[in-house]
Amino acid sequence: MSTSAQIGVTGLAVMGRNLARNFARNGYAVAVHNRTPSRTRELVRDFGDEGDFVPAESPEEFVAALERPRRLIIMVKAGDPTDAVIQEFAPLLEPGDMIIDGGNAHFADTRRRERELRERGIHFVGTGISGGEEGALHGPSIMPGGSTESYASLGPMLEKISAKAADGAPCVTHCGPDGAGHFVKMVHNGIEYADMQLIGEAYQLLRDVAGYSPAQIAEIFRTWNTGRLDSYLIEITAEVLAHVDARTGKPFVDVVLDRAEQKGTGRWTVQIALDLGVPVSGIAEAVFARSLSGHAELRAASRELAGPVAQPMGEKAAAAFADQVEQALYASKIVSYTQGFHEITAGSEEYGWNVDPGAVSSIWRGGCIIRAAFLDRIRAAYDTRPDLPSLLADKGFAEEIAAAQDDWRAVLVAAVQQGVPTPGFSAALAYYDALRADRLPAALTQGQRDYFGAHTYRRTDVEGSFHTLWGQDRSEVEA
Ligand code: 6PG
Repeated sequence: MSTSAQIGVTGLAVMGRNLARNFARNGYAVAVHNRTPSRTRELVRDFGDEGDFVPAESPEEFVAALERPRRLIIMVKAGDPTDAVIQEFAPLLEPGDMIIDGGNAHFADTRRRERELRERGIHFVGTGISGGEEGALHGPSIMPGGSTESYASLGPMLEKISAKAADGAPCVTHCGPDGAGHFVKMVHNGIEYADMQLIGEAYQLLRDVAGYSPAQIAEIFRTWNTGRLDSYLIEITAEVLAHVDARTGKPFVDVVLDRAEQKGTGRWTVQIALDLGVPVSGIAEAVFARSLSGHAELRAASRELAGPVAQPMGEKAAAAFADQVEQALYASKIVSYTQGFHEITAGSEEYGWNVDPGAVSSIWRGGCIIRAAFLDRIRAAYDTRPDLPSLLADKGFAEEIAAAQDDWRAVLVAAVQQGVPTPGFSAALAYYDALRADRLPAALTQGQRDYFGAHTYRRTDVEGSFHTLWGQDRSEVEA
């Protein structure tokens, strides 16, 4: 058993344990530590044959087992638990050592921690790790931030354990300094929420309007997964919808309580987008849809409100409708990713990170929850135009969304007429139509603001700011 581990993992719940196993399986000597020592012993007992583990019963023993510069990965809950572990280990480390936070930390916390530890000469590397427990073990998509110096040391190791895209490229890139990695992971999760909401709306339309059963819809998703919607989320959706509940013999989806939980990263994505002034309406509607589903009393009190009840259509019409739903889902997906990447580039400008959206789309091709063939398209778009102002400015995406127009709108008409809520589809189309509109009602908004608050407005025909004397002769004065 070696005494100089190249990497150490503290926090051996399933994610941390699987990450440690992944490093060991890839030939690294891995120091392992857990606040509850029995977890450390269980890891070595159950998986010790997978590689070179160096168990440590105390923080001191753990740090002593690490080669210099020390690389110490924290895999504990975001928030206070992470701060507590940093406080415990930082005094034991020396300048040049690295603390890597693999949890879903808020990027602002990561920026604070990086600043505080940098003063002590310690590199703090906030790192998004996507792919769940299976990804941690077999290859996640990894989004490290932190200094270029720390990435020089960590990068080769992370590339070895990461997922590999279909072309063999490792799904890891240095996202940028300080909190850039956790910011990119946050937006990944926001896009994940939007993807899941859009899939949910497609399911509900196929269930209530087309009249298909969960098993039939599973087959439709399986077919979609062989085309441009090929993705992990579409794949698992088919599995979830095909699953039959052993207890009742009913479709699993019908026995699950329809109240969605959320740990918070999608919510953060929207909060930060509001601060950055970036419309991420698709992600916001996904967060709100989860919140609405949780308001059981409000929903119960509203159950009798007037409105249509969806009437399933005939078999022939249903098949045609399913094709239209695929178009609406794909078009809405393009919009959601457009919004997510807008937030990434806006955050990068705000914080001076110089995040490469093409590199981000490349590492999301494998390992992460939103992994999809679609990400190859996005990477190709940025390869063609690294300064692409919006995914919708890419000729290929613009042509695909143009081809989807009629079906996208027809699906929304059916949803509105049949009373099926489609906030994600609707927000995506509203965003798209607003972007392409020649004039927006923002002109009226500015007039109203000037009327009640003298907040002034600009004109289309001359430079400057103006105010109308609404309470007097309504003449216009230059502000
Ligand atoms: C990932 C996932 C993960 C996420 C959980 C639960 O990239 O592996 O996004 O980080 O936290 O799936 O997320 P919610 O509770 O927010 O749905």
